[in-house]
Amino acid sequence: MFEKFEATPQDPIIKLIGMCRDDPRLEKIDVGVGVFRDSNGQTPIMEAVTIAEQRLHKTQTTKSYVGLAGDEVFNEQIGNLVFGQSCAPDRVRAVQTPGGCGALRMLSDMLFRIASDRTVWVSDPTWGNHYPIFRQSGFNVQSYPYLDRETKTVNLDALMGKLSTLGQNDIVVLHGCCHNPSGAELEPQNWDEIAQLSAKNGFFPYVDFAYQGFGRSLEDDAYSIRALASAVESMVVASSCSKNFGLYRDRVGCALLLGNTPAVSDIARDHLLITARSSYSMPPDHGAAIVAQIMTDTALRQSWEDELTGMREHMLSIRKKLSGRLREKAASDRWDFIADHRGMFSLLVLDDKQVDRLRNDYAVYAVAGGRINIAGIKDSDQLERFADALVAVTT
Ligand SMILES: Cc1ncc(COP(=O)(O)O)c(C=O)c1O
Repeated sequence: MFEKFEATPQDPIIKLIGMCRDDPRLEKIDVGVGVFRDSNGQTPIMEAVTIAEQRLHKTQTTKSYVGLAGDEVFNEQIGNLVFGQSCAPDRVRAVQTPGGCGALRMLSDMLFRIASDRTVWVSDPTWGNHYPIFRQSGFNVQSYPYLDRETKTVNLDALMGKLSTLGQNDIVVLHGCCHNPSGAELEPQNWDEIAQLSAKNGFFPYVDFAYQGFGRSLEDDAYSIRALASAVESMVVASSCSKNFGLYRDRVGCALLLGNTPAVSDIARDHLLITARSSYSMPPDHGAAIVAQIMTDTALRQSWEDELTGMREHMLSIRKKLSGRLREKAASDRWDFIADHRGMFSLLVLDDKQVDRLRNDYAVYAVAGGRINIAGIKDSDQLERFADALVAVTT
């Protein structure tokens, strides 16, 4: 049977992780893999998570299945966290999923049932997994312009120009905040404009929301979704708790939909549940139960928000320091954009030779194109070495 398979290329990020792991050089710097690291280079378990986990261990009495929709307390809390007061809560439906990827795929499969002839538009560049997810559902996937590779800012004219040509036959995938891989962000007035365009021309907004709280704040990062929700009749959001709760391996996500009436939302939710049933059936409980505990306990929630703020501020301080050091070392302002970007990533726009030289000559592991994880750089001699290596391969 399996002889029929042709060899497939390995996922480039998974390949990079393996290469970095096997590299014996002690000075290696991993800016490839997309996980948060603190000033000790650790991906910590958040304190609120540890406490909630202990409580669960003491109080949970069964390992029976959770329902198809998962933990309803979790679903309600994530619905509030994401949509806030932007729309009537009875139009929102939420279904717990295995990670943000699970949400992305379930929403995509659900939409394909009723919109298979629509084109899915993703940003150029976008996160590498968007293409396979939407294509596996069956969609035709195309890209809209996003990043100006010269200035490393959003190419607003090109973006808005393209979006204004899209309509009823299109689904537009938007990064709600902390654009991956570029780090270049849209401003609130840009989101207002996109929301108006969607309401006027009818393209369907599909928001990937994997970094709420990593950009400006939990509330500010949700501006995108709230602008859309207050303008359009219907939309979907794939939310992830992997980064903002540090629950990567516990696979916690939420598929959210907003319908134009509660009755329509109910039916759409049923289709989402049918989609899940024929895939993984019931979601895993543990991670979502932790999030539900944290969100409904005032002290734990405060502790989580404080720690999240600390993580965000850590990344911002690395951004500032790195761009400052690069300004001095390169005697140029060409890297100033690193301080203006938000979230975990910045796309440095490097060619293959430069990325290879970083790895081979300086033991710096960046993703093709030069995507770096800011949290992968320790605020120590490592930051100096990273800056030296980058200047060396780009001058
Ligand atoms: C843009 C984007 N969307 C979605 C996800 C999904 O993450 P997960 O499935 O780990 O929750 C990620 C994770 O890296 C991401 O970067």
